[in-house]
Amino acid sequence: MEPFRTFRGKTALVTGGARRLGRAIALALAREGAGLVLHYRSSCREARRTAEEARKLGAAVHILQADLEDPAAPEELFRLALEAAGPLDILVNNASEYFPDRMDGLRWENLSRSMKVHAFAPLALIRAFAAQGREGAVVNLLDARVLDYDKEHYSYHLGKAVLLSITKEAALEYAPLVRVNAVAPGLILPPEGEGQDYLDRLAPTNPLQTHGDPAQVARAVLFLLSAPFVTGQALYVDGGRNLLGGRHE
Ligand SMILES: NC(=O)c1ccc[n+]([C@@H]2O[C@H](COP(=O)([O-])OP(=O)(O)OC[C@H]3O[C@@H](n4cnc5c(N)ncnc54)[C@H](OP(=O)(O)O)[C@@H]3O)[C@@H](O)[C@H]2O)c1
Repeated sequence: MEPFRTFRGKTALVTGGARRLGRAIALALAREGAGLVLHYRSSCREARRTAEEARKLGAAVHILQADLEDPAAPEELFRLALEAAGPLDILVNNASEYFPDRMDGLRWENLSRSMKVHAFAPLALIRAFAAQGREGAVVNLLDARVLDYDKEHYSYHLGKAVLLSITKEAALEYAPLVRVNAVAPGLILPPEGEGQDYLDRLAPTNPLQTHGDPAQVARAVLFLLSAPFVTGQALYVDGGRNLLGGRHE
């Protein structure tokens, strides 16, 4: 497969691209010359703002709304993306729902919600992407704790663990035309409702004793998109957190 020597002339669909890490990834792609289909669920105003910034960088941008908890939504989203932007070269499965629950008392509704957003939607989008029958690259956003046991976010954790499996299996299923990789961020942005003190408090628990930032995650995504001999891999951007397992708790 030809590497993406340049992102110019390429078009990327980024799910959950309105804000936070998705926004950083979308803008990094725009900065490198890619066109964007920016997906959002509820952050309409932020999506418009991100699109405006990307356009200032010279990108053609289309905005699409979809709730990926609806099992019919991924295929429809992809169909609308094709209609709006033409063939897609890049897919970034970034959309995610981070919510607390534990194994003890796990409810089907939570598990099903996580599986729909973290497993079924990315898989359905990858399938539709591969069905274009052209070269392309996918990056799925995992979590540095994917091989660990995140007992406070168990449904989320299970969803990401399935997405890791999907990353490897889709890499085999859709080779050689489509490469499928993953980025597993660690401590990058505080969860909603938390501030900088959350990052400062947890930074010393990482082997590198610091936290990352969205630009570092975006750089890892761009690397995997442009690495022609790499598929089925997860790149941890986490200051070494994944090496510890659950041992620091
Ligand atoms: N932030 C971190 O430090 C960190 C650490 C580890 C892993 N990650 C992973 O990196 C990715 C980005 O992180 P983040 O913190 O920026 O993510 P986030 O804020 O938790 O979620 C990203 C976007 O996902 C969209 N989304 C949520 N539920 C959806 C649904 N049902 N249908 C469609 N879209 C939905 C939301 O869009 P709207 O706002 O439009 O509703 C949200 O803005 C995620 O996959 C996350 O798991 C992040």
